[in-house]
Amino acid sequence: MDKIIKMIDTDELFARIKELAKQLSEDYRGREVHMICVLKGGVYFLTELSKNMDEDSRVAVDFMAVSSYGNERVSKGVVKIVKDLDDPIEGKDVLIVEDIIDSGNTLTYLMNILWDRNPRSIEICTLLDKPSRRVKEVDVKYVGFEVPDEFVLGFGLDYDQFYRNLPYIAKMELD
Ligand code: IMP
Ligand code: MG
Repeated sequence: MDKIIKMIDTDELFARIKELAKQLSEDYRGREVHMICVLKGGVYFLTELSKNMDEDSRVAVDFMAVSSYGNERVSKGVVKIVKDLDDPIEGKDVLIVEDIIDSGNTLTYLMNILWDRNPRSIEICTLLDKPSRRVKEVDVKYVGFEVPDEFVLGFGLDYDQFYRNLPYIAKMELD
């Protein structure tokens, strides 16, 4: 049995997501926002975030999948596109919605690819940020919570594809 210790409970998690959604509604008022969810981890966050935005917000969603982690706990820093966006982003205001930024390798790679497609803007919204682990600098505008250098799980974050469905953020006690 893996040992799971709760770090951010459901109430705190959802309250913070509501705050972020309110801020996004204000920041993108009068504009369309094209949310790009990085699968699979970002999907729980994206749905909760977008549902909590003002009803008159103009929100489109699209999905992208990249691979970097495999089944391991340590980033190999190798990233490739496994599933590309369905729609072009030229001239659009893009918001990348991520589960966590760790080394920053994934987002650095993604930002390069997306900027080549000539969007009007790109901002990043991540549920969790582990700044102590950063290898590549990324400019993150919206952060849910900063977390220490621990392996975290839940609300989209997995270990070996499991635990994504937990409605809270937990850490795993490594053996
Ligand atoms: P980065 O490229 O090192 O920033 O890693 C980004 C990706 O690694 C995230 O989108 C997650 O999928 C995964 N990842 C990083 N840290 C954790 C963690 O603590 N738990 C689960 N997945 C993680
Ligand atoms: Mg991810």
